[in-house]
Amino acid sequence: MAEAQVKNAALLAVLCLASAASWNYLVRTSQIDPAPISLLPSPPMRDGIYAPNEKLEKAEKIGLGLVHGPEDFALDREKKSLFTGCEDGWIKRVWFDEGRVENWTFVGGRPLGVAVGKNEELIVCELRRGLLNVTKDNVEVLCNEAGGSKLKMPDGVDVSKDGVIYFTDASYKYSPAKFELEVFEYRPHGRLIKFDPTTKTATVLLKDLYFSNGVALSAQEDFLVFCETFIFRCRKYWLKGEKSGKIETFLENLPGFPDNVRVDAEGTFWIGLLGRRTLLWDLTVKYPAFRHVLVRMWSIINPYVLFKKGAILNLNENGEPIAFFESKRPLITGGVRLGNHLYFGGILDHSLNSLELP
Ligand SMILES: *[C@@H]1O[C@H](CO)[C@@H](O)[C@H](O)[C@H]1NC(C)=O
Ligand SMILES: *[C@@H]1O[C@H](CO)[C@@H](O)[C@H](O)[C@H]1NC(C)=O
Repeated sequence: MAEAQVKNAALLAVLCLASAASWNYLVRTSQIDPAPISLLPSPPMRDGIYAPNEKLEKAEKIGLGLVHGPEDFALDREKKSLFTGCEDGWIKRVWFDEGRVENWTFVGGRPLGVAVGKNEELIVCELRRGLLNVTKDNVEVLCNEAGGSKLKMPDGVDVSKDGVIYFTDASYKYSPAKFELEVFEYRPHGRLIKFDPTTKTATVLLKDLYFSNGVALSAQEDFLVFCETFIFRCRKYWLKGEKSGKIETFLENLPGFPDNVRVDAEGTFWIGLLGRRTLLWDLTVKYPAFRHVLVRMWSIINPYVLFKKGAILNLNENGEPIAFFESKRPLITGGVRLGNHLYFGGILDHSLNSLELP
């Protein structure tokens, strides 16, 4: 009897030592230096405005099989079509009247944020080359560095009526191939940048942002809103008036991961959410050590485990939620509203989606 107990105790001790050693090895060889982060408790998501729904499932698919992983959307000036950047490096133009998909311009790489410029050119954030000026027959790099650091993850963009470009770089530290390191390190490597096409200069407006993603000017262009995806927050940056240059909260503690943001003709904001905030993610944030494991396992993690149910959230100018449209699938990145239609999509989609609004 006693002998068996000794054996068990020895076995337990060996197991403990082995797991301590492997944990130590995991942390010591980890590629990240994860920051402790504290988030506000998640907002109520069982009832109220964020109650689960599948409203986006009623959408009609346009150009199925021709629009792969549409990430962001920009309406043309006449509102007859929209542009979107796809995972195959194409900018596709979708015409609303006949639902025709035009292979507009091949930019290569991974086009993310898109916005129509002053001369009807398309300004594109492309992950590898930076900020691009794209026309039907030309692609030109406008900028690939700011404030002395190269753009590593140019992500969201908007253009003012007088042609000034505002865009984000989600990280000056990690390139897209190291996306998971950026996400799980949880340190502020993001920037908001202004590019003036007349002087061709880039100015860093804000730094130390947490994965700065989508950006959109308000209808009056007196402020802009930018999203910080992995801390569930959107903030306002004032461009005009007495608060010019100041930052304010637009909406924090979102029900999911905000990606792109767009403004409609009435001045309301439409934000794509990659997925619902989950308990698993909250634990990830709370326990930095857990993130070493996730980084190690990243290549085998199915996105459906971490991201569930993408959505589009509509907010008024004061950042108050008006409507919440959820999907069954994750990784919805954004949408634009035109009249009584919401056009949206995400990186797992193979079409543009069109939802008739009530
Ligand atoms: C447009 O691109 C798609 C792939 O995204 C391809 O299947 C299709 O043949 C192209 N159409 C034309 C007219 O080149
Ligand atoms: C983009 O290129 C077009 C055509 O070359 C030009 O008219 C336009 O001014 C350029 N836009 C910017 C922001 O440089």
